[in-house]
This record gives sequence, structure tokens and C-alpha cells, in this order.
Amino acid sequence: MLPASGFGVNEVARVRALAERLAREAGAIQRERYETELIVRTKSASIDLVTEVDHACEELIVTALRRERPQDAILAEEGSGDDRPGAEWRWVIDPLDGTMNYAHGYPRFCVSIGVQRGSLPCVGVVYDPLLDELFAATRGAGATVNGRTLRVSEERELGRALLATGFAYDVHRSREDNLDHFATFVKQVRGLRRDGSAALDLCYVAAGRFDGFWELKLHPWDVAAGNLIVDEAGGRTSDLAGRPPSGDGRETLASNGHLHDAMVALLRGGR
Ligand code: IPD
Ligand code: CA
Ligand code: CA
Repeated sequence: MLPASGFGVNEVARVRALAERLAREAGAIQRERYETELIVRTKSASIDLVTEVDHACEELIVTALRRERPQDAILAEEGSGDDRPGAEWRWVIDPLDGTMNYAHGYPRFCVSIGVQRGSLPCVGVVYDPLLDELFAATRGAGATVNGRTLRVSEERELGRALLATGFAYDVHRSREDNLDHFATFVKQVRGLRRDGSAALDLCYVAAGRFDGFWELKLHPWDVAAGNLIVDEAGGRTSDLAGRPPSGDGRETLASNGHLHDAMVALLRGGR
């Protein structure tokens, strides 16, 4: 439990303010370099891309954290953090979520910064630089977008739901490719999107724009901020079987809560 008053609250507020500032600064880099000539490389697979903007955003965030919070642990996707075991605070950073979109000039990507205290998610910030939308949550204090309170949808029928999902970078070669679940859901729901930024997908569940989202083989940096934002907007997050999320992102399910059990049932049957 976080302390309810005094030093603890101030420190949480400082952490949140720093996360928001760094997300906006990294987002400004993304906005400036969007649709410019980029150096694009591949990572784990030919479809797993990284650009110089991913690295520039990570460098900005990690350099500032080393200067301003040298005791904190940092897990950053492109590998420049120091994930110190035992640190009180841990920053989990996706410097650019939606790299494939970014590299193709498809306008859906963001910066995602989750901060854990002990092992608990404490602060989550996701910034979409093109729409200038800053999604944020503090544990126990609700979730907002640009300061406005976020609330998940009230939809209770899968047949009227708009859902989102995604496919992992090993989709060309893995048999655990999510296509079975995709086929099951597409026959049952009003609409199903694959929009290429898991952190934004989670925020859209929090905002009631999507009614639910699932994906396999995500990573801690994809979900560290978004899961907290969903929970604080009154939604539910879990693994695909409905158990509390492990935090590693390997199985991610988020919904408005009302549709959760129905989604778990379909995910169980559709495998
Ligand atoms: C990816 C995006 C995408 C999801 C992939 C992620 P990246 O993150 O969130 O929506 O389907 O599984 O890896 O590589 O753009 O940071
Ligand atoms: Ca990501
Ligand atoms: Ca990324």
C-alpha cells in the first residue's frame, strides 16, 4: 500500500510529473521526425523493426532518469536501462510503441512509461504525440486523458462490442499465432481492430473507445502503463484465463469488466 499522506504522496506526484514530462518530450521527437527519411533496422524477425527515433526517444528518457533519479531501476525496450534488483522504483519504458506504424507513416504510435513501486504498478503514462493525448493514471487515484476522467464502456454484449488485438513478431513462423482467436472473435463481435500499438489499444479500452483487447507475447514495456490505466478507469486486466496479470505481457487481456468472462470463455475455446 502506498502511504496516504506526507512524503510518499509528494514523491508519487513527482514521479508522475517526471513521467509526463519525459513522455511529452519523447513524443515531440516522434512528431518532428514523423514522415521523414528514417534509418530502419530489423531485430528478432524481418517484420520486427527499430528506427533511429526509437533509440533517440529512449536515450532522452534514460539520460534524464539517470540524472534526476539515479537510484531507480530502468527497464527500457531498446536495452539502455539498468534493471537493478531491489530498487524501490522501477521505470518500464517503451520509447516508441507502434514502430511499424511509425516507419510506414501510419499515424498510430506513442510513448509508454510505467513506473512500479516495489512490485506494484504505481504510475502509468502513455502519450500520443499526433493527437496530443496524454493518458495517465496513478494507483488508487483514477485515470485521465488530458486531465479528463477516463471511464471504460458499459457494453455488456459481445455482439455490440468493438475489440482490438495484435500479432507477435514471430507470426510468420509460430503456430501460437493468435489467428484461431482472431477467427473466433471476428465472427462474434461488432468489430475487431489490429491497429499496431498495444499501449494505445489498452488506453482506448480505458477510454471506452474499445470494449476489450487481447494479445499474446507482449512484453513488460507494452503493458506497464496501459494495464494500470485500464484498471484505474474501472476496467479489468488479466491473463487469457482471467487470472491477475503477471506483468510480463505474455498473455494480455483487458476489458470493461462486463465482457471479461465472455472473452475468457472464447479465448479458452478458440485455442
Ligand atoms: C508492438 C506493438 C504492436 C504489437 C506488438 C508489439 P513495438 O510494439 O505494440 O501493436 O502487436 O506485439 O511488439 O515493437 O512497436 O514497440
Ligand atoms: Ca511495444
Ligand atoms: Ca517499442
